[in-house]
Amino acid sequence: MDRRPCRSRLWRRAVRERLIRTSSTPRDSSAPAIAVLISGRGSNLKALIDAESAGSLAARIRVVISNRADAPGLAYAREYGIESLVLPHASAPSREAYDRALVDAFQTRGIALICLAGFMRVVTPVLCDAYPWRILNIHPSLLPAFPGAAAQRQALEHGVKITGATVHFVTPELDVGPIVRQVAVPVNERDTVESLSARILAAEHQLYPDAAQLVLHSPWRIEGRTVVF
Ligand code: GRF
Repeated sequence: MDRRPCRSRLWRRAVRERLIRTSSTPRDSSAPAIAVLISGRGSNLKALIDAESAGSLAARIRVVISNRADAPGLAYAREYGIESLVLPHASAPSREAYDRALVDAFQTRGIALICLAGFMRVVTPVLCDAYPWRILNIHPSLLPAFPGAAAQRQALEHGVKITGATVHFVTPELDVGPIVRQVAVPVNERDTVESLSARILAAEHQLYPDAAQLVLHSPWRIEGRTVVF
């Protein structure tokens, strides 16, 4: 008779289910390779991983790169067997040198698309010129409203009734690149920065994988500052 505590049985079952789940979705090595850049929590990284596993993002997250060794989101890369790299910005002699190191990392891995997901660095032309229209960012407002930091707080302070999230191409100028997709999120009268941020974040998790899928697999062109699908 098995006298081991129930908790141990539950744990073994959880591990077994995890192994089954991860092994039932073999990663397609011929799919376009994505690099995800993070600095913190990594919930958008997790959304991209989930979309890849579900097949709604026909791509392979090839590498996760963080400028911070303590970014909690790195745990998702470890959990899902994705290569992760830490490139600390403090040790780079310049922004350009940092971006050159990123470009090297992308080129040796055949990266087709770069997704900035809470990556708290302004990129330089070194990176943008090496990957023209191949770098996406997600921002928690309906750009061009409320660029920069604390977008949710800015929205509340302006008393807007609708805000949202934007996925856009990255250019060296902060938060102004051509817009790929947006989602609107209503602002409630009683919203705090925290409650509004949480609803925007939930919308981001759907928006980012959809936008990456579109950019990788639909025909599009840039006209002026507009992305035409
Ligand atoms: C998101 O709100 C995103 O819009 C902004 O940074 C936050 C990153 O969150 N650029 P997470 O690290 O993906 O959870």
